Amino acid sequence: MTLPTSELATASSVCDLTVVGGTGDLALRKLLPALYQSERRGNLAPGTRVIGGSRHDLDDAGYRAMVREAVHTHVPAHELDETVIERLLDRVRHVVVDADSPEGWDELHGVLKQAESDDVVRVFYLAVAPRLFGPICQRLDDIGVVEPTSRVVLEKPLGTDLASARRINDAVGQVFDEPQIFRIDHYLGKESVQNLLVTRFANTFLEPLWNSRWIDHVQITAAETLGVGERSGYYDTSGALRDMVQNHLLQLLCLVAMEPPTYVGRETVRDEKLKVLQALKPMSPEDVDRDTVRGSYAAGVVDGAEVPAYADELGRPSQTETFVALRAEVQNWRWAGVPFYLRTGKRMDRRTSEIVVVFKAPPHAMFPGSEGATEPNRLHIRVQPDEGMHLHMTVKEPGPGGIRLRPATLDLSYATAFDAVSPEAYERLLLDVLKGNPTLFMRRDEVEAAWAWVEPVLQRWSSLDERPDEYPAGSSGPAAAEALLERDGRTWQETDR
Ligand code: BG6
Repeated sequence: MTLPTSELATASSVCDLTVVGGTGDLALRKLLPALYQSERRGNLAPGTRVIGGSRHDLDDAGYRAMVREAVHTHVPAHELDETVIERLLDRVRHVVVDADSPEGWDELHGVLKQAESDDVVRVFYLAVAPRLFGPICQRLDDIGVVEPTSRVVLEKPLGTDLASARRINDAVGQVFDEPQIFRIDHYLGKESVQNLLVTRFANTFLEPLWNSRWIDHVQITAAETLGVGERSGYYDTSGALRDMVQNHLLQLLCLVAMEPPTYVGRETVRDEKLKVLQALKPMSPEDVDRDTVRGSYAAGVVDGAEVPAYADELGRPSQTETFVALRAEVQNWRWAGVPFYLRTGKRMDRRTSEIVVVFKAPPHAMFPGSEGATEPNRLHIRVQPDEGMHLHMTVKEPGPGGIRLRPATLDLSYATAFDAVSPEAYERLLLDVLKGNPTLFMRRDEVEAAWAWVEPVLQRWSSLDERPDEYPAGSSGPAAAEALLERDGRTWQETDR
């Protein structure tokens, strides 16, 4: 098939990557280690520079020392190579800039002017709070460093509701055109999430079954054992619905539910995901009361250690949810009547992100007098940890005599099937930014459609003025989350360890 030229892969351009928020947690924990890995694999074009921008009074040497420490802390020891670190540090500069003040931005201008050629693509990664996205874009525009080839990368959360997301998008859109804007949802950079597309569309056996005729329901879980820790300031203004469901979980839902695009390209996948978001059944207040569950972790034991309640970590009572379970429906021909149950929580009993597609039971019992029961097939798509796919089937237990039905699993574990370690999501996504490939980034319309769907839930919850149900840290969430499925005659399919 001949692709439009706009879809053809581009090589990694020579870039000046300016990370505003260059001394922040995201930059030090994720971005700089990801750049180290790209350097190690030879994926950074010669001449590419990394310019950290922060309010800290650091010179280049001071920032390089910080980068070195970040790489040592966050890259596994067996992957550390001092010559690679030196190569990365050679690219690194620092400028003192403050989004709230005009000072320092001229220095950034000066550094960018020193680029080795006019072809160098300027990428601005805004690893800062979203309220600063608009003001920073304006400063970049004021100092005249935004060119038609420039790109801006925005971290989630993009706003706290539809109106604030629109304001941010409008402000950024004053300076950058939509194709220049890369909105990160790091779940889309995960290996198994991309494999979901390949599994669905590069094989034939699933597609005829991938609909309401054969699928009973879908479960999507993202459970964490970590609490909110030092992020409680941010988290308490957000909560699990904004932090995880509006973005990561809805993106997974889209990839499960979307129609096959003509080809997997920059706009085609995003077009199809948008259609799914637009087909989500809007929630009335009654739907919210019936189909959503909020939880907040109480003290408990996680991985053998006692941990405090969310409110104690925060230092005050809170109505913010650290757990959400909900039932969604995609109102279209393929999915009519198939519930999508989503759930996410902090301080759960295990760390796992998984999609489980539960098929319908066979229409007719064919083995009268057999021992054991036929169980509905389940396809588990494990996003993390232990990425892979597992198909639960009913088989005959070997041996003479009568037929004994037993459950068994077809296992595809990436670690065993491929002798390669999956790159971190940020490494892949940063390279895509440097190559100018937006396929795995969220478009404005997608982000806004996702906010439009979650907003009635937020509104209803805030109007109720109630505390979320408590669940003990180290558990699978509040009892109401179990009841949400039991009411429909279903149960959460726990991940096999
Ligand atoms: C982030 C959320 O987007 O995703 C965090 O803000 C959450 O609260 C994290 O912990 C989970 O990501 P991962 O890759 O560890 O599943």
